[in-house]
Amino acid sequence: SEILRVGIAGLGTVGAAVARLLHRQAEALTARTGRRIVVTGVSARYQAKKRDADFSGAEFFADPVKLAASESIDLFVELIGGSEGPARASVETALAHGKSVVTANKALLAAHGLHLTQLAEEKRVALSFEASVAGGIPIVKTLREGLAGNSIERVYGILNGTCNYILSRMEREQLSFEECLTEAQRLGYAEADPTFDIGGFDTAHKLAILTSLAFGARISPESIDIEGIERVSLADIEAADELGFRIKLLGVAQRTADGIEQRVHPTMVSKNSAIAQVMGVLNAVTIDADAIHELTLVGPGAGGDATASAVVADIADIAKGVRSAPFGLPSGQLTELKRTPMRRHEGG
Ligand code: NDP
Ligand code: HSE
Repeated sequence: SEILRVGIAGLGTVGAAVARLLHRQAEALTARTGRRIVVTGVSARYQAKKRDADFSGAEFFADPVKLAASESIDLFVELIGGSEGPARASVETALAHGKSVVTANKALLAAHGLHLTQLAEEKRVALSFEASVAGGIPIVKTLREGLAGNSIERVYGILNGTCNYILSRMEREQLSFEECLTEAQRLGYAEADPTFDIGGFDTAHKLAILTSLAFGARISPESIDIEGIERVSLADIEAADELGFRIKLLGVAQRTADGIEQRVHPTMVSKNSAIAQVMGVLNAVTIDADAIHELTLVGPGAGGDATASAVVADIADIAKGVRSAPFGLPSGQLTELKRTPMRRHEGG
């Protein structure tokens, strides 16, 4: 079968897990896609660093931009992170060279999603980012393809595994915020700069992507009101508990009379509600829409294997020749969002 030559930039938690999964599922992926998926090039900062996967068969590039431009790959997978620097430069280079791109980088998409979509459209290549929202939950495909027959009213949920892990362990084990954060970092859940997690910014990046997909809007993170969990104390969690509530960091986007409202903040949810049962690194996304009424997906929101599951699904689609409009519509048809004032809602 024809080979799909893949370049992976970033060989950390997610990059190594993707390589392991591609290796483990090699035969099944070839059967599904008709192609043999081979990692032919890789890039990271330190060539000699010990990795959690075997990259010895791939050519090493010290510069991810050179990998992105290399004739030796057909598809570029960006797993470095960050909205600027090597992640942005390498993704732009790959698209400009007519190569499809798969990325897990929600910060990059939130900042430059429209521009990158336009680059992909010009070259008629794929820009795929299933892993960028809610880890292993296939929410991008669900919104873009699965719910195409619906008019969506609201999309909301728990979109950051690190925060949900911290809040869950604080409640269940009476541990301090700092202890829980350190453990989330050790497990590979947190961003390189965990301020993005606990400050609510990572949730906002993901919400901006969901909003664009759900409402056919241009991605617009600047129109989100954001409050993180840094100030949530054990005492707050205990006080909520006594009242029959849990505290969850939610991202919410919904239609209002004034337009699409987007917000991220800690929210008191009744312990009897479905969303309150979502504990640990799990994420949950609920969609309210006219035809399906309500749909909730729950699953692992962070971690190498769960995230790799989504990255590999995108790679498989590209191997099969599937190329969806990144945000569901041609970029020229995405509407502009205007900022709507936030009204606080309790109870999710
Ligand atoms: P890691 O920090 O584990 O890995 C980052 C990788 O990028 C490392 O291999 C690092 O190299 C490499 N890198 C950094 N700078 C450069 C550079 N200038 N040139 C080449 N390589 C570079 O991050 P994660 O794997 O956790 O995250 C990767 C991406 O996936 C991010 O966008 C993140 O937001 C996203 N993501 C992460 C999830 C998770 O659960 N961890 C879940 C969903 C998305 P070296 O190893 O040599 O230092
Ligand atoms: N740091 C992110 C989280 C990784 O904890 O949810 C998954 O996007």
